[in-house]
Amino acid sequence: MKAAHLFLFLHVFSTAGVLVNAFDPITTTVVLGVGATLGRTIWNYLHESCDPKWVAFNGTALNADLDSKLFGQHIASRIILKAVSGFMSNDNPKKPLVLSLHGWTGTGKNFVSQLIADSIYKEGMDSSFVHVFTSELHFPHSSQLDTYKTQLQQWIKGNVTNCAHSMFIFDEMDKMHPGLIDSIKPYLDYYDKLDGVSYRKAIFIFLSNAGAESIIQTALDFWKTGQQREEIELKDLETALSLAVFNNKKSGLWHTSLIDKNLVDFFVPFLPLEYKHVVQCAMAEMKARGVEPDQNVADQVARDLVYFPKAERVFAVKGCKTIESKLDYYT
Ligand SMILES: *[C@@H]1O[C@H](CO)[C@@H](O)[C@H](O)[C@H]1NC(C)=O
Ligand SMILES: *[C@@H]1O[C@H](CO)[C@@H](O)[C@H](O)[C@H]1NC(C)=O
Repeated sequence: MKAAHLFLFLHVFSTAGVLVNAFDPITTTVVLGVGATLGRTIWNYLHESCDPKWVAFNGTALNADLDSKLFGQHIASRIILKAVSGFMSNDNPKKPLVLSLHGWTGTGKNFVSQLIADSIYKEGMDSSFVHVFTSELHFPHSSQLDTYKTQLQQWIKGNVTNCAHSMFIFDEMDKMHPGLIDSIKPYLDYYDKLDGVSYRKAIFIFLSNAGAESIIQTALDFWKTGQQREEIELKDLETALSLAVFNNKKSGLWHTSLIDKNLVDFFVPFLPLEYKHVVQCAMAEMKARGVEPDQNVADQVARDLVYFPKAERVFAVKGCKTIESKLDYYT
């Protein structure tokens, strides 16, 4: 509950208190009763709960956000909209939605997760039904693997019991211990119920850099042969991506049966960002800050970034990641 809400809540109570002093005992009881009921109504109104007032998918909003806030990701954008819309409009999904987002740093994987959360939860990423796990933060010591496993399973179970439409985001999936990933596998599967809990309405999102090199290579090949980036199709990346993902000894996820058992519903590739996309990010960020977007400033910010490969200088090394701090410097 936000501070402003709490304030309003307390204010209503103290107003009721002031009224109480002015009346005789019987009126006092009535006023207190009314105050308590009112308080409860306001509490329900202000406090997030797992009902359609707080949790309701808005496909129009997601579509608009993907169109106007995510740049250079025509493939990811299309898959995400289709996957999330399809899943959220199904009252009886057979399994939870499992998305695996792949791509270079700063290409929008975290950002897209945020847009998805915004389109489902009124509180967006601040919702108590959205859970973000980062391996280095939440599961740093491989010696405590067993503890982590138990803890993670309890968290998932507890949270899905509270709200079927819970969302779990696993950042830096490539750094997660394979054993830990294995321990969440049952929740991603086609079970009707596990221990009396159904996980079918939950959403799992995995973020990783696995496969980024092959995505970059494909994008670079298109660029070199003068083909439009927008002509890149999912099938151009799928083979390369699955090969990289399957054969990458370093990335734990892909050695577990997540893939063998088809538990991941969608692999979503994020293309490396070019100069023009960085400019778009900078313009959007200025707009979000409530200042008039300035093309010159955006160009200045984009020019200041480092691009790769060294010879061609096509893709921004950090994508749109440092735009915010760069803008602080130029404006
Ligand atoms: C869904 O989002 C659109 C665009 O942001 C908005 O205009 C509309 O009111 C929203 N619908 C609901 C039911 O909240
Ligand atoms: C829900 O998950 C969070 C971690 O995001 C955890 O701290 C909390 O204990 C979980 N809730 C339940 C009821 O298990």
